[in-house]
Amino acid sequence: MKLLVQKGRIIDPVTGIGGQMDLLIENGILSLIASEIREPDAVHLDASGLMVCAGLVDIHVHLRDPGFTYKEDLFSGGQAAAKGGFTSIACMPNTKPTIDSPARVTELKNRAAEIQTVQIYPIASVSRGQLGREITQAEELRRAGAVALSDDGMPVSSANLMRDALICAKSAGLPILSHCEDASMVEGRAVNEGRISRRLGLPGRPAIAEEIMVMRDIMLAAETGSPVHICHVSTRGSVELIRNAKKQGIPVTCETCPHYFTLTEEEILTQGSMAKVNPPLRTLRDVQAIIEGLQDDTIDVIATDHAPHAAKEKTLPLIEAPSGISGLETALGVTLTALYHTGKLGLSHILQKMTANPALILGIPKGRLAIGAPGDLTLFHPTERWEVRAEDFVSKGKNTPFHGQTLTGKVKYTILGGKIVYQDS
Ligand code: DOR
Repeated sequence: MKLLVQKGRIIDPVTGIGGQMDLLIENGILSLIASEIREPDAVHLDASGLMVCAGLVDIHVHLRDPGFTYKEDLFSGGQAAAKGGFTSIACMPNTKPTIDSPARVTELKNRAAEIQTVQIYPIASVSRGQLGREITQAEELRRAGAVALSDDGMPVSSANLMRDALICAKSAGLPILSHCEDASMVEGRAVNEGRISRRLGLPGRPAIAEEIMVMRDIMLAAETGSPVHICHVSTRGSVELIRNAKKQGIPVTCETCPHYFTLTEEEILTQGSMAKVNPPLRTLRDVQAIIEGLQDDTIDVIATDHAPHAAKEKTLPLIEAPSGISGLETALGVTLTALYHTGKLGLSHILQKMTANPALILGIPKGRLAIGAPGDLTLFHPTERWEVRAEDFVSKGKNTPFHGQTLTGKVKYTILGGKIVYQDS
């Protein structure tokens, strides 16, 4: 099976390959990149006018399977990933049951292998049942196929447990992806602490609740020498702490999500629970700091934190509604619109944070265009405009605060192992 992608504009931040070229994928592997390839027996795909990059990699996705398949399942999440241009996704373990044992990782991996549209990499939990009391078995989890450990959604409260977990994760060769919010400061609170929370008369989730945990994890990473990856950075203070830690050579990496560099807490006033997410949307100053963090590489990764929920849940009153945004199908468009088309970040820089960097952190052989690499590609039109319509999402989660927005930049084809798994109609 051969696929020849012709006349696209190739862009690869790692190898520096660029310009109009053809790519040949044979038996799932990228076998040739050249200015003009003749291969009569290959399937031909005309990529004129399109950008061609390595398939996007998302380090932070909630697939809700098993246990909450009314919100999403491996199949629907896989469809949403492909539509968003993602060929590799790492899925969080806050399912029912929690993915906290080698047997559960193996079971998930086997079911994920059936999904044709995306490669799914399991993340196992840091603590059993994500209860924060007892660490899981990092080495066995890695051998079963886990690519990282995380209690995302249920931050690890005990510094002692986090310390033990970091030490074990390091010897197993797994990164810990840490959701940084001090539970005692955020429980039962729906919005950022500040102007909007005061206006609504609600207790808020303060920036310090995130920053205190970021600081703790940086200190633990420094002490143990174990890499820690901070999830969904949302505050100016967190960016500053991570910037300083990196300067000192502490092994910390981090991600942010499109909603943290585009939206502020004001969205709550018009969108209610559609804009409810953990950590919460912050202020314009925070948004600006997140963009600066992306520019100077304090922030390594743009992830989605794809968190689908059912419509009936998101229409509950603000306090009761679950937190999260369905992000796979809008991530590239929102990012190109907000960062590339405004001149804030170059295309190669953006793609590095959506391909090579997350792949490197997860230790998976993805995210680059090179001979011998997997034949995973994303083809997008950089200037095509389109309107986000939640009802058009293939994800079961239609919960997006970007509904109605016009974005510039659209995924046209997603190719996984040389097979076209998504084509824009
Ligand atoms: O808003 C969020 N939703 N943040 C998280 O960390 C978890 C996620 C979820 O699982 O719904």
